Amino acid sequence: MVIAVGSDHAGFEGDGPHYKPEIIKHLKQRGCQVVDCGPWGPESVDYPDFAAKVCKAIQANEAERGVLLCGTGMGIGMAANRFPGIRAAVCVTPQMAELARSHNDANVLCLGRRVLSIEECLRLIDIWLDTPFSEGERHKRRIAKMG
Ligand code: RB5
Repeated sequence: MVIAVGSDHAGFEGDGPHYKPEIIKHLKQRGCQVVDCGPWGPESVDYPDFAAKVCKAIQANEAERGVLLCGTGMGIGMAANRFPGIRAAVCVTPQMAELARSHNDANVLCLGRRVLSIEECLRLIDIWLDTPFSEGERHKRRIAKMG
């Protein structure tokens, strides 16, 4: 699976290990191909710009899914959900990551550097990657209503 990854400066916040490179390393260890949409350092940037890069990669079929990271996951998730066809889910618990896939068919996972440890982030990524969409009719109907 090809996954586009982007963040804001939260991806390089603190002493390290920095979250964005750790997430990319983990995805590659899982056998995923990664489209790295930046940023590549701790300079302050605007999360909508990197949400846009990831979402456009998905819309252009250059990636199947995306992982986004900001301080909380919320800002970058709000930005991502403005793009047609993107279903971005901010997840902070394993149950949220599972339901984001099985009920919402979320194609973008949004994580928060300031609210999750890196171990928690990687666990949520694993659950989100390993959980299929349920294909339930009621879930398909609800997703269709979102366009
Ligand atoms: C950036 O300082 C911070 O506001 C951003 O990473 C994010 O948490 C916004 O939702």
